[in-house]
Amino acid sequence: MSTTKPKKNETQAERTKVTTRTFKLKKKRGEIITMLTAYDYPTALAVDKAGIDSILVGDSLGMVVLGYPNTLPVTMEDMLHHCKAVARGAEYAMLIGDMPFMSYQVSVEQAVANAGRFLQEAGMDAVKLEGGQERAAAVEKIVQAGIPVMGHIGLTPQSINTLGGFRAQGKTADAAKKLVEDAHALQAAGAYSLVLESVPKQLAELISQQLEIPTIGIGAGVGCDGQVLVTHDLIGLFDRFTPSFVKQYASMHNVMAEAFAAFKAEVAAKTFPTDAHSVTMKDEEWLALLGELGQ
Ligand code: KIV
Repeated sequence: MSTTKPKKNETQAERTKVTTRTFKLKKKRGEIITMLTAYDYPTALAVDKAGIDSILVGDSLGMVVLGYPNTLPVTMEDMLHHCKAVARGAEYAMLIGDMPFMSYQVSVEQAVANAGRFLQEAGMDAVKLEGGQERAAAVEKIVQAGIPVMGHIGLTPQSINTLGGFRAQGKTADAAKKLVEDAHALQAAGAYSLVLESVPKQLAELISQQLEIPTIGIGAGVGCDGQVLVTHDLIGLFDRFTPSFVKQYASMHNVMAEAFAAFKAEVAAKTFPTDAHSVTMKDEEWLALLGELGQ
């Protein structure tokens, strides 16, 4: 048996940072792109360790971490704070900061300035924003500033009030045609990738075939160039509701609740902390103290 350690690249391909170029190459080669959300350092570490291509610091943060009923209250400061934590945890995944409601809708100038903050202050590699043709001008200017932009069409949660709630989109021929046009407009404006959320799978596949840039689906079927899920849905950490398109791979809410109950029971029974979890001092020091205290 040889005692020589194999060189790293003999046993595993050398891992490199995922970039917009990786996205392009993966689409060209027909390789699936994976993306998950993260909002903090430990989750970013775990997602990166799993070899996921891209981490989205989504404004879903508002719902799954901050407890708001929707994403509308999320601010730039909330996003930057969580993006910084994720950037400290992830080494390889491409990091995408989600532009929150009203951080890019007021003017193209506002959109460019806020997009810049994600890269300059928070260590992100790209930004994502919601909307189709109506956002093309902002996407174009942000890209011209050197900031990669991921688009997001279909169910766009920042527009729930105009969409009438969290509802699937593009289910009629007219609505589907509008989404095809939106997708092309975003590609023409320079977006490097596009999220398709909660749209019919046939439509998502058609858009994915028509576009040169990769599509990342969520509730959009298997015909997309990649898939994304909200991590808290995937690991079962969000208690309120699980969209039908989510697959739960773990039940972390229950795991946490069980651990907390076990802690409570052991503290009540005084079986925690044990000596192994306690700080001790030498007998001679203890006796000296008792002597000094006259006890
Ligand atoms: O905010 C988010 O997590 C998202 C994903 C659902 C794509 O936009």
